[in-house]
Amino acid sequence: MQIGKDINRAIELLNAKEVLGLPTETVYGLAANAFEDDAVLKIFQVKNRPSFNPLIIHTNSMDKVKSFVKSIPKKAHLLGEAFWPGPLTLLLPKSEKIGDLVTSGSPLVAVRIPNHPLTLDLLSQLNYPLAAPSANKFGSISPTIPEAVAGQLGDGVKYILDGGLCNIGIESTIIGFEDDKVIIYRTGGLSLEDIEEVIGTVQVNEKSHEKPLTSGMLKSHYAPSTPFYVGDIDKMLFQFPDKKIGVLSYQKNYSENVKTSFVLSPNGSLQETAKNLFNYMRLIDEIDLDVILAEYVPHHGLGRGVNDRLQRASYKYNKTE
Ligand code: TXA
Ligand code: MG
Repeated sequence: MQIGKDINRAIELLNAKEVLGLPTETVYGLAANAFEDDAVLKIFQVKNRPSFNPLIIHTNSMDKVKSFVKSIPKKAHLLGEAFWPGPLTLLLPKSEKIGDLVTSGSPLVAVRIPNHPLTLDLLSQLNYPLAAPSANKFGSISPTIPEAVAGQLGDGVKYILDGGLCNIGIESTIIGFEDDKVIIYRTGGLSLEDIEEVIGTVQVNEKSHEKPLTSGMLKSHYAPSTPFYVGDIDKMLFQFPDKKIGVLSYQKNYSENVKTSFVLSPNGSLQETAKNLFNYMRLIDEIDLDVILAEYVPHHGLGRGVNDRLQRASYKYNKTE
């Protein structure tokens, strides 16, 4: 496995139906030729991803999107025009060009134009789109630097394009359309406020399911391997005497009774919080700790997406203890 900036090497691998680690503005993806089932299958294998969980298709222009969907609802078009390239994924009716493996049998395909210069350059040189889920093992923390992809997937991936730290840091917002309704299935890097400014009121439906429409809807997801709790940090500190405690806080620094403390955004910026979230979750998880204590952040802007990830990251620990 190698990390580098060689786009030609990336193209060679993709043409050979191999998987590639690739940067986007949200999180790193594990990419393969979306038109080749053999290549797509490798994504599921390397990630240990269940086949019922469909993949997002990445491309670099609205014209290319039109070439593999049947139609684009008006509001979808408005959103694409306003926010692509960017952290927005649209669920659209697929054409026959997209196989059932990519969509797990759904008639809808998830599409996005990511906003990363290296990846846009790569996509513009390909005559096929790239299927790419986040480049983590199923259920684990999404990677926002190339080294985190390497740490999760090891030799499962031959090459990782190095685009540095992802600018947004949480996954794209996923939006679907039912008749006249617009539904957010996963909150993420594009805020509800920004969306509603363009198309008016939308519905948020990120309810948890055991067999969900999107894996971001699994009750447990993004989970660190150290027990991870979210709540009132000051109160929780008393519940774990004699334990090695790590704290992942929003603004306040904790130094008493804790072994380590990460502050997501000392100045209270939700953008900065999103950008640091997965990276700090990974770093704190690498430290020898008994427990990690975290707290929710203000529930607006990117805070919704951050809180969604905190909740799912803590779900399995809150449930069992
Ligand atoms: O920001 C992102 O969206 C990143 C970067 C790499 O683009 N990708 C990402 O992919 O988060 P992944 O696979 O980790 O999450 C994609 C979500 C999954 O929860 C999947 O279930 C959902 O999108 N999804 C994909 N295709 C779908 C479809 N046809 N219908 C409903 N949900 C779909
Ligand atoms: Mg993911």
